[in-house]
Amino acid sequence: GKSGYDHYMLKEIHEQPNAIRKCLRERVTEMDATVSVSELDELDHDGPVQFVACGTSYHASLYGARLLREQGIRAQCFLASEYDTEMQPVGGDTLVIGVTQSGETADTMNALRAANRAGATTLALTNGVGSSAARECDYVMYIRAGPEIGVAATKTFASQQVSLALLTGVLSGQYSSQEIRRLRDLPDQLQRVLDESNARTVAEAYADAEAYFFIGRGYDAPVALEGALKMKEITYKHAEGFAAGELKHGPLALVTENTPVFATITGDANASKTLGNVKEVEARNAPVVAVTDSSSDVAQYADHVLEVPAAGPRFTPILANVQLQLVSYWVANGLGRSIDKPRNLAKSVTVE
Ligand code: M6R
Repeated sequence: GKSGYDHYMLKEIHEQPNAIRKCLRERVTEMDATVSVSELDELDHDGPVQFVACGTSYHASLYGARLLREQGIRAQCFLASEYDTEMQPVGGDTLVIGVTQSGETADTMNALRAANRAGATTLALTNGVGSSAARECDYVMYIRAGPEIGVAATKTFASQQVSLALLTGVLSGQYSSQEIRRLRDLPDQLQRVLDESNARTVAEAYADAEAYFFIGRGYDAPVALEGALKMKEITYKHAEGFAAGELKHGPLALVTENTPVFATITGDANASKTLGNVKEVEARNAPVVAVTDSSSDVAQYADHVLEVPAAGPRFTPILANVQLQLVSYWVANGLGRSIDKPRNLAKSVTVE
């Protein structure tokens, strides 16, 4: 059941601290600061990585690829439906990772089969125990999110992100004890976000906006894409997400006082540049909602702030995303949408 929540989506948003706890269990040890994933004990890989995925899982892949590249591992992302439209350079030393909550998505299965035929090593990162993807691949790592009923992926996205952080630890063999501590602290910090979120107020303030824009740079860019996907999926309203720098290359033409812009700024590496983009939209009178750990003075330029605790540059975006999940939920709820089963969509997309 929904355990007292009006929708599975809201229940599943609130299950995220526990989902992440389960995902981390016995995989990180504080003592010697190591990451170990028993399913991957036999995996000894140091070649390039290619991700194949769709939708929210693709956004998780963008995040995972960035984590890997930061550790010096070559990693690329492909939309699964595009993967076999051109010959991919795949060799025996290529690890192709299918990121798929259900493990049943036709496009992703198709890409994994193509990778297997080409002789790559394949890995399924999935929530679906015994799923098609798990059976197709040489390796499987489970994200352990528990069943997700809502069509909109929420807790499985967080569990994918945490799993990808673990996988990065496994493949690179180098994670600092500080990073391990940050991972272990993440469930409690996520709980704080849920307890203290003012997302509902923000949603109510912009319930009848014409469109919603989401921007972010670096690790915050996938958050922007995911924020927009969730918004359009459950509210049926126009929403777009993009890397903050792209704003001035076209989308800025659509920015008006009726298009709130959600700017995620976490970590200080890219803060000043995204702040520059925020000033651009402010000058066009667009309402600004900052999702931030206070690593910049964006709050000063924002009409609303959705705060998140600082969990370091890699993990704070996981927290920021939860604020955006809540905003979408409350906008959709205000509009009386069919939140758990949006029109035209299915939980697992088994057609190409
Ligand atoms: O089961 P999968 O992770 O392979 O599904 C991929 C997408 O269909 C899925 O993430 C979809 O985008 C979600 N409904 C988004 O909330």
